Amino acid sequence: MSRVLITGGHGLLGREIRKVFLPGGYDVRETDIAELDVTSPDSCRGAVGAYRPDIVIHCAAYTAVDRAESDAEAAFAVNEAGTRNVGVACRESGALVVTFGSDYVFDGTLGRPYREDDPVNPLSVYGKSKLAAEEALRESGCDHLLVRTQWLYGPGGKNFILTILDKARQGAALRVASDQTGCPTLTKDLADGVLRLVRAGARGTVHFSNEGRTTWYDLARFVLERCGLAAAELHPAATCDLPYPAPRPAYSVLSKEKYRGITGVSPRPWDAAAEEFLSSLPAERPNA
Ligand SMILES: NC(=O)c1ccc[n+]([C@@H]2O[C@H](COP(=O)([O-])OP(=O)(O)OC[C@H]3O[C@@H](n4cnc5c(N)ncnc54)[C@H](OP(=O)(O)O)[C@@H]3O)[C@@H](O)[C@H]2O)c1
Repeated sequence: MSRVLITGGHGLLGREIRKVFLPGGYDVRETDIAELDVTSPDSCRGAVGAYRPDIVIHCAAYTAVDRAESDAEAAFAVNEAGTRNVGVACRESGALVVTFGSDYVFDGTLGRPYREDDPVNPLSVYGKSKLAAEEALRESGCDHLLVRTQWLYGPGGKNFILTILDKARQGAALRVASDQTGCPTLTKDLADGVLRLVRAGARGTVHFSNEGRTTWYDLARFVLERCGLAAAELHPAATCDLPYPAPRPAYSVLSKEKYRGITGVSPRPWDAAAEEFLSSLPAERPNA
């Protein structure tokens, strides 16, 4: 049985990776920072040496996009150096590294879905740290699969959909960007996509998100309508009028052509995945 070690195993994606790989027939060990701190080369070598995984699914990351604008050192320490440390430990042990990139490596000006080899030009510190992570991964010389993804949500972690629901239930007036287009991606669907890619022997860079496209504003409206909160006060806003320090790409839909070619399947549409997620929630979550 192949052994899988997960970094960042208590994060939004790490939890779903475990849930999908365990029944997929893998011996799975998830870790978080207390057990495996990716910023420490010794911690990476120690965990890889002790568990001797065939695959390391590296989910640990600095993901606070706005905080990164004033905390670049920490973002690069986790994303760039952390990925290098995981890559080097796996090159030495012969394990495959599967890790995750971001649509924020693109500047959003292309006007059609981004393919894997389209030019990168990150706008934010977070995007730059994720691009540096990609470069560190390649430079480490490990066998690797990099899955770029976007707009993640799912159970067990902070995400846009749950934040919108909580704020609407508190009676807050919501102003949401209507000029950023991308695709919401359910963590369970991404984890399932990763399992398919691993089974197919994929290597290099592959894009994955759910199918279709929307804006944050239209996603918020969809969520509120499906949850009986259509009367909530929701206003479209221009990104430049919102109080978020990090610049974001205006259009960062990812092309799934390569994913389809490798696995022979298409991700399901984002609205079908979001419907399933919303129907799995308790009728009214307690306000956070
Ligand atoms: N979320 C998105 O919309 C999105 C979009 C595109 C790409 N991605 C990428 O997808 C991957 C997974 O993201 P996610 O949403 O699951 O992130 P997440 O929920 O923030 O989880 C990241 C995990 O990494 C842990 N971590 C932080 N520093 C660490 C360290 N030094 N050593 C070990 N673990 C550490 C975090 O622990 P603490 O919580 O204790 O800090 C957390 O458990 C990341 O590579 C991310 O960049 C995410």
